[in-house]
Amino acid sequence: MDICAWNVPKPRSIECQALKPRRIGDKIDMKGLRKSTQIANKINIIRQLEKVHDKFTNKDFIKTLKGTDFFTAPCSKAHHLSTEGGLAQHSWNVYRLLKEKNERYDLGLSEESVIICGLLHDICKVHFYKPDGDGYAYNDQMPLGHGEKSVIILAANMELTQQECCMIRWHMGNWDLSSYGRPAYNAAMKMYPNCAALQTADYEASVFLE
Ligand SMILES: [Fe+2]
Ligand SMILES: [Fe+2]
Repeated sequence: MDICAWNVPKPRSIECQALKPRRIGDKIDMKGLRKSTQIANKINIIRQLEKVHDKFTNKDFIKTLKGTDFFTAPCSKAHHLSTEGGLAQHSWNVYRLLKEKNERYDLGLSEESVIICGLLHDICKVHFYKPDGDGYAYNDQMPLGHGEKSVIILAANMELTQQECCMIRWHMGNWDLSSYGRPAYNAAMKMYPNCAALQTADYEASVFLE
């Protein structure tokens, strides 16, 4: 199964320029992200992903990711960061919040786990939206769910620890629970309390930053 062959147009050529990362607390302008911000996010995200290159079983993972809409897609249809580049901005925000929590609470997450969980937890949103009038509509090219879909895509491209799988699978917390899934969710929360760090980073990013 060629799970990483996301069928998409070639990425636009982007002139790179190094920009300082945004500070946590900088509220995003919902009217749209500036091109310079989108470029900065792309540079910052790729720079971090290159640090975990050893984890990739698919050595073309970053190249493949650049060929998807990860850096241009919105983060949602109509809620937070429903704008071009929103998914990358959200991923960057969550990464930075997760990194901050890891340090503040001494959670023991490796730098690799912070990068993978923070930046790639929403990889399920690649090729998930399509432009529709002034906004976006759903256009899921791999309808497998949310957190579980991210785990499936990532597991096909890199080595994941069980903790990383659980953190990503359950990063939506109570927003993505069925009665059938609750026992597994409860077990994961007990086994890996760090699931709460990604859940809260994700939620805080959407509420306070986006
Ligand atoms: Fe998510
Ligand atoms: Fe998210």
